[in-house]
Amino acid sequence: MSQICQRSLVAANRIAISSPAAVLRCKSTWFSEVQMGPPDAILGVTEAFKKDQNPKKINLGAGAYRDDNTKPFVLPSVHEAEKRIVNRGMDKEYATIIGVPEFYNKAIELALGAESKRLQAKHNCTTQAISGTGALRIGAAFLSKFWKGNREIYLPNPSWGNHVPVFEHAGLPVKRHRYYNPKNCNLDFNGMVEDLKKIPETSVVLLHACAHNPTGVDPTAEQWRELSQVFKQRKLYPFFDMAYQGFATGNVDGDAQAVRIFEADGHDFCLAQSFAKNMGLYGERAGAFSVICADEQEAARCLSQIKILIRALYSNPPIHGARIASEILNSADLRSQWLKDVKLMADRIIDVRSKLKANLEKLGSTHNWEHIVNQIGMFCFTGLTPEQVDSLIKNHSVYLTKDGRISMAGVTSKNVEYLAESMHKVTK
Ligand SMILES: Cc1ncc(COP(=O)(O)O)c(C=O)c1O
Repeated sequence: MSQICQRSLVAANRIAISSPAAVLRCKSTWFSEVQMGPPDAILGVTEAFKKDQNPKKINLGAGAYRDDNTKPFVLPSVHEAEKRIVNRGMDKEYATIIGVPEFYNKAIELALGAESKRLQAKHNCTTQAISGTGALRIGAAFLSKFWKGNREIYLPNPSWGNHVPVFEHAGLPVKRHRYYNPKNCNLDFNGMVEDLKKIPETSVVLLHACAHNPTGVDPTAEQWRELSQVFKQRKLYPFFDMAYQGFATGNVDGDAQAVRIFEADGHDFCLAQSFAKNMGLYGERAGAFSVICADEQEAARCLSQIKILIRALYSNPPIHGARIASEILNSADLRSQWLKDVKLMADRIIDVRSKLKANLEKLGSTHNWEHIVNQIGMFCFTGLTPEQVDSLIKNHSVYLTKDGRISMAGVTSKNVEYLAESMHKVTK
């Protein structure tokens, strides 16, 4: 018998609790008040796709890289790293609370560059994290406990859907600043700067370091420099989310330009890193979280507190993915293979962007599709309306999220013509 039933029956003192009939009649349980939650929007797209019998169906919902045959891709560098690790016959002991040092030290070096003055001065406190989401969640927990400024975090509008629950779950209210201009499918830089100049000083602002999800629209280097000055003038605190380093342009240093510009300008900041996309380590959950502090002592104090938070959240992170990433980042031959692997993925995405635009133009579409090639990274914010998206799904078996975002990873040299035809038909 559920304990709630027992208690309510005893309290009511009407029926003897030993009566089985009374127990059966009692409907109240510990979780009887729990309502059914809404399904995840992106997983819902994949579910619908799986049920579709149309042989021409395309899934453009999920943000995971696929090769030109729409198959998951294990990077050659990852294959080789894994082989080397297995051959070494390593044990499966716990990592420390902050993970595998050979991994997290190289992770932050990859972001800031080996020449980074802040790294050399040990201003960073860095921990391994459960991929990018886990890194964001540690950051949210840390800020929730220790941030002395305005306790609101500002996100670009729109932003990755999970940003809101991650920060709210840690007790940080989320607000928005302008970012995307739906009219021209590009960056509303003036709107963004105007908003950032108005929000309360000492607010935390989340920045997508590169390949903004879901829009694929990034500031230019010049615009990042200007933003850095606005952050200084307005005493805003940057929290970089870097989930796509290397995946955007194929160049890991180029994709880190925003973080490095802010670092060179002397900002202190938080940084969440993911190796899901750039190493294809999705399910391995390899990531890192760093706070770039004022000095070495502050970094040591912050790290001591982050360890206390992690201990309570999940104790210590998984080791296999971190070992793979570490093997790649620490071995010259694997690292150079990996840089080729990342470029191969980025180049394929860049190539299908051009093909999609060219096919739409060939079909005589009168819309301006320039943004398909101007946007960058995994996603393209097509500008399709919810009605056009519905029609793509219903009439053409092309699956994408309601906001018109397509994962370019699902586009291949084989389905791009059919996709262009379908997009042309729903936008005529
Ligand atoms: C902007 C952004 N941040 C963070 C993540 C976190 O991904 P993961 O937890 O798989 O590393 C993603 C994944 O899609 C993302 O797009």
